[in-house]
This record gives sequence, C-alpha cells and structure tokens, in this order.
Amino acid sequence: MAPSRAHHVSIFGLGYVGAVTAGCLAEQGHHITGADVQQAKVDAFKSGISPIIEPELESLLQAAKREGRLHATTDAAEAVQTSQVSIICVGTPSQAAGRLNLDFVRNVCAQIAAAIREKKQAHTILLRSTMLPGSTRSMVREFFADLIESGLLNVYCCPEFLREGTAVRDFRDPSLAAVGTHDGKAPATNEALELLGANAQILEWEGAELLKYSCNYFHALKVGFANEIGRMAKHLGVDGARVMDVVCHDERLNISRYYLRPGNPFGGSCLPKDVNALSGLARIEGVNLPLLDHVIASNQAHLDALLEQITSKDSRRVGLLGLAFKADTDDMRGSAMVSIAETLLGRGYQLRIFDPSINLTRLIGANEAEIQRRMPHLAQLLCSSAEEVVRESDVIVASQKCADVESLRRVAWAGKSVIDVNGWSELKLLSWAYEGVCW
Ligand SMILES: NC(=O)c1ccc[n+]([C@@H]2O[C@H](COP(=O)([O-])OP(=O)(O)OC[C@H]3O[C@@H](n4cnc5c(N)ncnc54)[C@H](O)[C@@H]3O)[C@@H](O)[C@H]2O)c1
Repeated sequence: MAPSRAHHVSIFGLGYVGAVTAGCLAEQGHHITGADVQQAKVDAFKSGISPIIEPELESLLQAAKREGRLHATTDAAEAVQTSQVSIICVGTPSQAAGRLNLDFVRNVCAQIAAAIREKKQAHTILLRSTMLPGSTRSMVREFFADLIESGLLNVYCCPEFLREGTAVRDFRDPSLAAVGTHDGKAPATNEALELLGANAQILEWEGAELLKYSCNYFHALKVGFANEIGRMAKHLGVDGARVMDVVCHDERLNISRYYLRPGNPFGGSCLPKDVNALSGLARIEGVNLPLLDHVIASNQAHLDALLEQITSKDSRRVGLLGLAFKADTDDMRGSAMVSIAETLLGRGYQLRIFDPSINLTRLIGANEAEIQRRMPHLAQLLCSSAEEVVRESDVIVASQKCADVESLRRVAWAGKSVIDVNGWSELKLLSWAYEGVCW
C-alpha cells in the first residue's frame, strides 16, 4: 500500500514497540532503518526476521525486505543520515524505587542530536517511549533546544497504546492516537499525523505523556476493581463474573464518559453511604479490598485540596455557587460543598451562597435534618441570586453552573477570583483570576 507521502524513517529500539512500528510503517510503504544497540537484533531485523514474537509481524518485515525498504544498523548517525524522521522506542524501565530510568532515551537523544548537527538538514523526532510528564521538555532542554531554535528540528511526543499479542492489529486500527506538541497546538509539520494517525488527539507534551499513564492506570484500576468485586462476590457466594458482566451492560453510567470528568468530589445520599457500607462489610468479613477501601480517602483528599485552594486566597469573603451535591436537586446530604461551607464557617469566613434548587421552606425529612444539624444558620447565608453572591464575595467557588453568564457580566469583577470546580469554562471570561480545580 503506497502512502500519500513515503517517509524515510529511522526507528530507535527494535523491541516490541519499535519492531511493530517498523513492520507496520513498512507495510504502508515507508522506508525503514531500524537502530538498536544489540547486534543480534539488528542482524535479525535486517534479514526480515522479527526480533519479537508477534502475530503477522514477520511477514510484514519479510515483505519490506523483499521490496528493499528495510535496513538496520547499530550506528545511530547512519540511521539519522538515512532518514528525515526518527522514532524513539527504546525501553524506559523502572528503577528499584519505582523511579523511571530514562538513560536509554537520553543516550539516543544525545546521539540523534549530534547526528542532526552533522547532517544539517531538517529532521523530526517522534518520542514513542513511555515517559513521565515533563520528560520530553527536559530532553528538549538538554539536547535539542538549539536545533529547534534554528528551525532544523521538530519534536513530538506520540505515546503508544498497542497491546502485545494484537500489536499489528492495534497499529492498523489504533484505539487511540495522540500527538503532543510543545504548546498543545497543531503540529508544525505533518510527519506525526501521517505516520502515527491522521485523527490523533493533539495535546501539549506533558498532556500526551500523562495521557499514556492515565490510560494504563485506568486499565490497572479496572482490573483491580473487577478483582475486588469478584473476591467480595466469591466470599458472599455470588458469581462475581456475572455481576461484573451485568455492570458492563450499563453503557450510560458505567462504561461511558460519565463520572470521568475531574471536578467535584462525589457526594449525595448514595455514593458515600454505599461505598462506606461495602467497605465496612468487607472489613467485618475479613475480605481484603484495599482499592475499594481507599475510595473514601481519595474523595476526602480531593475535598481537602479544594479547601486548601480556597483558603490560600487572601480574602475571607467567599461565595459558593451551588450547595447541593449536584445541580438540579436540593439534596444536600453528603454534599461536598456543605462540608466546605461548614469548615469555612468554623474558621470564621464570611460566606454567601446561591443555589437555585434550594428553597429552605420546602426542605423535608433527612435532607432538612442534615442541614439543621450541619448548617443551622444557612438561611442567613443564602442569597437570592448568583450576582448577589459575586457582589458580596471576593473568592467565588463555582460547583454548579447556576446562572446566566450575561447577568454575571453586569457585576463588577475587579479583584475577584474564581475557583471553577466543575468545568464552567465561561467563568474565564469574567475574571482574570480564574482557576480550575483540576485544570
Ligand atoms: N511493550 C508494550 O506493549 C508497550 C506498549 C506501549 C508503550 N511501551 C513503551 O515503549 C517503550 C519501549 O518498550 P518495548 O517493550 O518495545 O521495550 P523493549 O525492551 O522490548 O525494547 C527496547 C529496545 O531498545 C533498545 N535500545 C536501548 N538503548 C538503545 C539505544 N541507545 N539505541 C538503540 N536502541 C536501544 C534495546 O536494545 C531494546 O531492543 C517503553 O517506554 C515502553 O514502556 C511499550
């Protein structure tokens, strides 16, 4: 299959990622030079023999060899000389204490930088190895700054999401493709998109790096979650595989974007109560569920961070937009914003609150009892509009979108800061001192 533009590509590191990338790019008609420090891998690769076991890979390498588009070398300078694009796929192993060892990446970067200086022609580097956020920027600072400055080099961070065993299939039809650029804007040159996915998501270098860890963490979390539910189920004599299978049937709340946007801590009358109840049962029954057991602590840490963000501001005049545990309900049981309000009041802050769904005269039952217990003076703090809250506060904490931005615009915002808990991005237009909880 001939690509719209055939590239000459050098691939550094002929392990799982490098060999698969090489075979699949060769299949698309690109010219490949593999580079590795291990002579045996280079020799095998050169002859079209796959250095790793991966379905279909060897036939791709054999075809590329027959067509004269497969080369390999242990000489980094030669690999750079014969290519316009270098893809770095060397290993990034963990050190004993869990720190990432970037020595292989650093060595390759130093070699490539020296070779580009020698070659004096435009070159592109795609960093494919998995590296912690900040690593690409530090590689650039250490090895490439002058080359980028002089227009000779572009560096993109392109994390890899393939799975061993189905890697060739994953490359042809990736579940996700991402390109990190220095500023999160479209890449200045097209190689990353042409080689690794035309529909790639664009982020800044650090975002692309974190994306890779977020995906792997999420996968690990899913496995841990399923296993803990499974252990609890087995202990209770329930078929855990069946339970998890049915969990996955709900594609609206469970297998979906829902609950996956950082922002508000969870709250309400169900989640905290039920999470506590199952963890409590596991403890009583002696079933060790460390992941589930720490969910409440994780939520509390998020709440603490929000509180710290609020109290780090100079003013003690705080306004809350939204008090119930989420929008369009007056349920304040387990609400994170009630906890915030309680703590701030306890510390002597002046509070103003607006929540369009809360009408104190209509509160009944457990909801009313909880608010009587936790915030008996709520009536004196409630305002009749978001504008009133903004007028009477210096720090505005928005956990709900509960007003029309046009009407908020009429208030004088000078000197006021906004903490946006839930992604109400229009607030950026109102205050220079805007910050999100997680953005
Ligand atoms: N294996 C996977 O499924 C997978 C998936 C996604 C991302 N990743 C990430 O991709 C990177 C590579 O993983 P892998 O599994 O392919 O590693 P690997 O250990 O299989 O291969 C790395 C290769 O790099 C070579 N190398 C080391 N230093 C070199 C140098 N200076 N010049 C040239 N080659 C050099 C090694 O000899 C080795 O052949 C890692 O950061 C990994 O975390 C791996």
